[in-house]
Amino acid sequence: MKVRITAALLLLFCFFNGTAQLQQLLYEGPPVFHGAKVIGNRPGTDFLFTVPATGERPITFFSAGLPKGLNLEATSGIIRGKVNEAGEYKVKIIAGNSKGKTEQEITIVIGDKLCLTPPLGWNSWNVFTNTLDEKMVMDMADAMVHSGMRDLGYQYINMDDYWHDSTRAPDGKPVPNPEKFPHGIKWLADYVHSKGLKLGIYSDAGSKTCGKCFGSYGYEEMDANTYAEWGVDLLKYDFCFVPWKKMEAIARYKKMGDALKSSNRSIVYSICNWGLFKPWEWGPEAGGNYWRTTPDIFDIWRGGIPFVMSTMRILKKQNKILAYGKPGHWNDPDMLIVGNYGQGKATSWKGKFKGMTDVQYQSHMSLWAMMNAPLLSSCDLRNMNEATKKILMNPELLSINQDAKGESATLVLKKNGIWLYKKNLKDGSVAVAVFNTSKKEKQFELTLEQLGLTGTHIAHDVWQHTEAGILKDKMPLTVKGNETVVLRIKQSN
Ligand code: GAL
Repeated sequence: MKVRITAALLLLFCFFNGTAQLQQLLYEGPPVFHGAKVIGNRPGTDFLFTVPATGERPITFFSAGLPKGLNLEATSGIIRGKVNEAGEYKVKIIAGNSKGKTEQEITIVIGDKLCLTPPLGWNSWNVFTNTLDEKMVMDMADAMVHSGMRDLGYQYINMDDYWHDSTRAPDGKPVPNPEKFPHGIKWLADYVHSKGLKLGIYSDAGSKTCGKCFGSYGYEEMDANTYAEWGVDLLKYDFCFVPWKKMEAIARYKKMGDALKSSNRSIVYSICNWGLFKPWEWGPEAGGNYWRTTPDIFDIWRGGIPFVMSTMRILKKQNKILAYGKPGHWNDPDMLIVGNYGQGKATSWKGKFKGMTDVQYQSHMSLWAMMNAPLLSSCDLRNMNEATKKILMNPELLSINQDAKGESATLVLKKNGIWLYKKNLKDGSVAVAVFNTSKKEKQFELTLEQLGLTGTHIAHDVWQHTEAGILKDKMPLTVKGNETVVLRIKQSN
């Protein structure tokens, strides 16, 4: 089996190196699994997970050991149902097509933990702001499927601000804007679920959202229960119109966290108070699955001002709090701006920022993945160019982010403009990111000592999709300006 998986991976990676279109390459050869291998859900609540797999279609999926209450759809690989009994279930998944058969084990954890690996998805804010509507959500769900993103593990389609009607209903219930969402949110959630994807929504801990729509303050239970009735899977909860006081922040986030927990649905909870009052210290207690660590990201590499964050500015802050990210509770350095190219209504800062280079986007993606950040793309998934697809859809990098051990990278060295990160992975291998913060190309000598390793290791280059060589003592590397070389290093026997 191992040989077959390696052969399939090799095939995939050989293709990646060529000039062929990524999307086409994903659907050749035997099945290859991707994405989360450990999935949390609450007892007695709807479960939905699409087993992410590339390879020639049609693929037929089988399973052994699914807990009572769940079913795997053979043609789509979608697992649905409800499990009443808490526990850790080891499930064998087998995928077969005309080119071969592959199997893997996943763990379904029924209990009080969600988001056991960082969420992979898309969010509407950065590029579209107030132009969000039903058709866009459906289009993005379709694009997530057609692009191949879903088969690499992307799951969430998150609506941000501006889904709201001008006021709540007379009974206080939240209502979507009837012109933008003529069929209502439940209908939309059903559509997104039919694709094997999940739907996220947005609200605010104050009386209004940042876009001045109605917030959830005083309506926490009603909102959480309505989101649950609608079939919503994730809530991003903002901090506008709230007094800037630590105790107030904790109390308001916990109030919604508790409401979500008792809502009878597994709803992932995203705390968005821009890193104020160190949410990494109290986020888990408030029920948060991830929390923003900084103000908003903008489409620039360096610079920025206090509430206009560049990628580098965020990274510098992030380096100090890496250890706080744990399975079920992640640091969120904000969405991905890969492929926005200065087109984001929000992230271009009214057209002032013209976007970053593909090399910079590649570093942004590499480091977010290494730091176990939620990987929430914000570009227009309907029109991604090849470079954007290759950055967002690198299977090896995504598997580093989704690794079941859930240990964040640590920054082990800063030397001559190079930042060296190391992340221990579940299978005993180590992911290494060599990030060149300067504009100029640099030579860097990677040593086992820097990584705290001994022995002989084989290094695989995650962006080149090739073997990078044997690492016995040291390995010379050339890193382009602003580039990040990512290696997966494995002890050789
Ligand atoms: C900000 C938040 C953004 C976006 C926006 C919507 O506070 O950080 O990510 O959600 O509000 O108005």
